[in-house]
Amino acid sequence: MDRLQIGLIGWGTVGSALGELVRTGPLPMTLAAIAVRDRERPGLPKGVQVGGADLALQADVVVELAGGLDGPLAWARQALDRGKPYVTANKALLATHGRELAEIADRRVAALLGSASVGGGTPMIEATQHLAATGAIERIRGILNATTTYILSAMGEGRSYDEALREAQDAGYAEADPSFDVDGRDAAQKLAILASVAWGRWRPEQDVDTTGIVGHEVAAGETIRLVAEATKGSLSVKPMPIDPTDPMARAAGIENVLEITVADAGVYRVSGPGAGGRVTAGAVYGDLARLAAGERPVLFGSPS
Ligand code: HSE
Repeated sequence: MDRLQIGLIGWGTVGSALGELVRTGPLPMTLAAIAVRDRERPGLPKGVQVGGADLALQADVVVELAGGLDGPLAWARQALDRGKPYVTANKALLATHGRELAEIADRRVAALLGSASVGGGTPMIEATQHLAATGAIERIRGILNATTTYILSAMGEGRSYDEALREAQDAGYAEADPSFDVDGRDAAQKLAILASVAWGRWRPEQDVDTTGIVGHEVAAGETIRLVAEATKGSLSVKPMPIDPTDPMARAAGIENVLEITVADAGVYRVSGPGAGGRVTAGAVYGDLARLAAGERPVLFGSPS
């Protein structure tokens, strides 16, 4: 079988970790091209072509780990329109333009994958997809943002909001613009993607009733978490008290937790590191494994 040629857009923490996985991992694939703004950037691997997005778009599979919205939307449209698989970790892209992208992917019989967009390396999209195929999902409930877990836990231990936010940023959990974390948008985008997968119909971020944690008081000893919750009809993200015996209350640090309730079956849980270069690259690599096996999945099933 021919080795799959990967065109990677973005060479940050996740991109470089993916480069290492592709180089050392078992799948028959090669990193053929890397698109970066700064082509002189230190650490770019030798023997791989470096250029702009056009170069990466010529490969067999396009992987976007750049972030942002306008560039990724244009690249995804081009790749899918040419029938190429598009793999992304970009939750904003999927929660904003997912319907259009899934439609192009369906029409052009191209794969659209985004396992790394939710839960970092924790197989949340994969578990949701699997369980949706086994029965009717009644509810999903999760802790999908590490920054707010960190801040709310630290406040419960007596630290101020500002101190806790600074610590979370220093720990490397926060988005480049931490208002996405603390306003609940990061969790809302992730929940919209999970709900789209769970019920087979694309849901935008705007469908999520979102309340962030700014200005939320936490009394000493209280367990508050930013809880993301969805049924087929309603999606919400808001800070709320959790019983300390609830398995979700154990989420600490970088850990994300997802609970999926399936009719006539029960409650399933998946938890693990929700961010980080190596773990997030692992989720992308898992998507590439499906492509290498000849699958052509579209993340949201049939859009409507
Ligand atoms: N900023 C995110 C979080 C990490 O705090 O969970 C990646 O989604």
